[in-house]
Amino acid sequence: MRKKLIAGNWKMHLGPVEARALIAAIRAGIDRDAAALGKDRDVMVAPPAILIPAVAQALAGSSIMLGAQNMHYEDKGAFTGEVSPPMLKGYGVTHVIIGHSERRHIFHETDVLINRKVLAALKHRMTPILCVGETQDEHDNGRALDVVLHQLRLGLENVGDDDMTAVAIAYEPVWAIGTGRNATPEQAESVHAAIRAAILERYGPERAAAVRIIYGGSVNADNVDSLVSKPDIDGALVGGASLKADSFARIVRARTR
Ligand code: PGA
Repeated sequence: MRKKLIAGNWKMHLGPVEARALIAAIRAGIDRDAAALGKDRDVMVAPPAILIPAVAQALAGSSIMLGAQNMHYEDKGAFTGEVSPPMLKGYGVTHVIIGHSERRHIFHETDVLINRKVLAALKHRMTPILCVGETQDEHDNGRALDVVLHQLRLGLENVGDDDMTAVAIAYEPVWAIGTGRNATPEQAESVHAAIRAAILERYGPERAAAVRIIYGGSVNADNVDSLVSKPDIDGALVGGASLKADSFARIVRARTR
């Protein structure tokens, strides 16, 4: 059985004092049940890069994993303003969100660039959480699956069979991010099933059965249960609702069936 993955994406919110307070409150809400929760779910938070050292320190001894929201694909070099995989690794980062829709649409990241980052994460033994998702327009024109499967194919270019087990996919319809309009569990499930089928076709049944495909887009404490109880929805990537300890702790406790 696949473990669920509940991931918080803090985006460009919080300063160091608020971040420490949030982590302390999340730990207070989760750590006491960590053993029970840990049996069937993993929990991760992705702070802004500059807060990773502080959050890493505040997470010492916790089972909560540390993620990054983005990274460069090179190990080092003249790339002003960028953060490299080894820098993240050095602070215990295990997961990197790659190709988030805000990176694609605001910062014009291309599928080629996103693929380089996926490969760099794998090279450094971090789990890339490859984000895919259609815009409102694409959704309205019935192109959701085309767009998602295209982004998936290009994002996974040159990812070998063995590395595929280390990849996670996030389906995040752009029209659902930060809008309060989440995809219905049935809508999301059908896209997740199509993603899994595409992975099956290329990587075979074992890897398709193992890969985690999580949903993101206005996930909150009220809708998480119905989403993650679907067979192909293996967790949630949570933005706004991950910034409040009580709602995040409730999402972490999602009922999965
Ligand atoms: P949201 O963001 O939960 O605030 O919609 C999700 C995301 O962008 O990952």
